[in-house]
Amino acid sequence: MTGPRKRVGVLISGRGSNMVSLAEAARAADYPAELSLVVSNIPDVAGLERARNFGIAAATVDHRAFGKDREAFERAVDEVLRVNQIDLVVLAGFMRILTPWFVKRWEGRMINIHPSLLPLFKGTHTHRQALEAGVTEHGCSAHFVVPELDAGPVILQAKVPVLPGDDEDRLAARVLVEEHKLYPAALAEVASGRARLVDGAVIRS
Ligand code: GAR
Repeated sequence: MTGPRKRVGVLISGRGSNMVSLAEAARAADYPAELSLVVSNIPDVAGLERARNFGIAAATVDHRAFGKDREAFERAVDEVLRVNQIDLVVLAGFMRILTPWFVKRWEGRMINIHPSLLPLFKGTHTHRQALEAGVTEHGCSAHFVVPELDAGPVILQAKVPVLPGDDEDRLAARVLVEEHKLYPAALAEVASGRARLVDGAVIRS
């Protein structure tokens, strides 16, 4: 590894299992990122406690305190990230749509994991969407965040088969196993500089 480990701020809204997979990966001395901060937009979610158990600073910025003013909420989040000298923002089950203001501010320095093989099945209920579409293959995508929802250039994807008898929960569980491997690998690519966002595309070196 060259240079200092990148300081990562993880944004969550819930149980934080992807955050945990990143925290576990970051235990390795040669991992190019450290989890410096976890921020939830919802108070008291399990992910906050799990972060603290890893010794990671954990904070809540409750979006409801800002009413309909999305940007005011994001300015508060941005302030916490800035105070903690965050280099990279990692969305891990963060269920708020971000404004162009925030996305531009972190352009090329913010990634997301989405439970589908993008560009298929954007938005929510991706496993239901996959089952209803009758696809035989499903999966997850790690991507840079751009202003358009779930439309950012893909860094890495992992596939799983859709099996006879699958329901949403079974399929979600199979995808989640892959998410937990994919996201640490994708963050390593970005934190090391091996994958960069240049002119709206992922450039590898
Ligand atoms: C994960 O499956 C993640 O891919 C998904 O939410 C779940 C969060 O689980 N994210 C999205 O749907 C974003 N659009 P986690 O809190 O246990 O990581």
